[in-house]
Amino acid sequence: MPIQWSKKFETGNPDIDREHRHLFDLVNLLDTALEKPEPHILSMVFLQLAGYICHHLVSEESLAARYQVDAALQERLHREHQTFVAEIGRLQHLMEASPVKAARDLHACLIDFINNHVLTTDFALAAALPGNRPPDDYEADEAERRSFALRLVGS
Ligand SMILES: [Fe+2]
Repeated sequence: MPIQWSKKFETGNPDIDREHRHLFDLVNLLDTALEKPEPHILSMVFLQLAGYICHHLVSEESLAARYQVDAALQERLHREHQTFVAEIGRLQHLMEASPVKAARDLHACLIDFINNHVLTTDFALAAALPGNRPPDDYEADEAERRSFALRLVGS
C-alpha cells in the first residue's frame, strides 16, 4: 500500500521536508515494483533508493554539523543512520539471492525508519536548526559533503 505524505511528516525545515517527500516517492516506487515483482526492476529501484538514502543522510548530518546542533543529538542522528545503512547493506547482499524478499524487507525497513526515526530524531534535528538559512548555505560545499559521506559509510 502506498504511503501518503501528510502534514504529520512535515518537520518545518524545507530542505529536510523536500528530501523526505522524495524519499516517500521512492518508497512508493518500490511499493509499485513489488506488485508484479521483476528481479531486475527491483534491483534498479533498490539501487536508486540506496543511493538517495545515502545522499539524504549525509545532508542531514551536514546540516547538524554546520549549525552545531547539540552533540548528543548529532551522535544520536549518526548512530541511527549507521544502523539504517548497515541494514541496507545487509539487504543489498540478500538482493542477489532473494530479490523479492530483499525488496520486501527494504520496504518494511523504510516504513520503520520513517515511523521511528523521521518522526522523532529528524523532528528534533529540524527543531534545533535555524528557521531561515541564508541562500549561500543552501548546500554544504562539496568537500564537506564528501567527508561526511565517508564518515557515514564508516570508512
Ligand atoms: Fe531524514
